Amino acid sequence: MRLDKFLSDMGVGTRNELKKDIKAGLVTVDGSVVRDPGAKVSGDSEVRFRGLPVAYEEFVYYMLNKPAGVISASDDPRESTVVDLITGYRRKDLFPVGRLDRDTEGLLLITNNGQMAHRLLSPKHHVDKIYYACVSGAVTPDDVIAFSEGLVLEDGLECLPAELNVLNINSDNGESVSETEVTIREGKFHQIKRMFHALGHEVLYLRRLSMGPLELDGSLEPGEFRRLTDEEIKSLEEL
Ligand code: URA
Repeated sequence: MRLDKFLSDMGVGTRNELKKDIKAGLVTVDGSVVRDPGAKVSGDSEVRFRGLPVAYEEFVYYMLNKPAGVISASDDPRESTVVDLITGYRRKDLFPVGRLDRDTEGLLLITNNGQMAHRLLSPKHHVDKIYYACVSGAVTPDDVIAFSEGLVLEDGLECLPAELNVLNINSDNGESVSETEVTIREGKFHQIKRMFHALGHEVLYLRRLSMGPLELDGSLEPGEFRRLTDEEIKSLEEL
């Protein structure tokens, strides 16, 4: 890879700034000053900028607490995307692992590791996803059984067995709202909303709490993000 690209990928500066810095002799590769921004380097090269080592990171991983109102895409000419929320320096190859609806909040992994994303999303792997859902009406024991047996949606789509736990049923003036926790092992379009809809409940609020071993960090407000810890990355690699 080109030296200026290597350094800009690692967040040292923009390609234009780096071209100047490299020509000014601020960068060494394996101990020697290199003034050619197009010089080739690899992940094994020892690159220093102003004397400080710049380690090459092939993959990066962010946990975002997705807020409502943004779309799960990498970039969009008109709309704010989840990748736009990764502020500060950000690599250009980031994408969200899977999609949450615009009005859904919660855990979203953002990375540049395509293989990892594939493992997490592949229907073969049946990675558990847990959601907190507030729905209209009082969820009944029959609803819980229907989820556990594998619902058939209106369009005939058969869902894998899912777990529905009722946390609370709030009733006011004859209207009920149920707070629930749902575990699904697949990720079909609008899946949770369609599952509840099939039983006569509408989802009023939805937040993803976990995806496989990765749990939403409770200290992240909607819109906030952080890097994954080494342990979290390891747990995903072991899937
Ligand atoms: N199920 C839904 O209906 N929406 C989401 O965003 C995620 C799961």
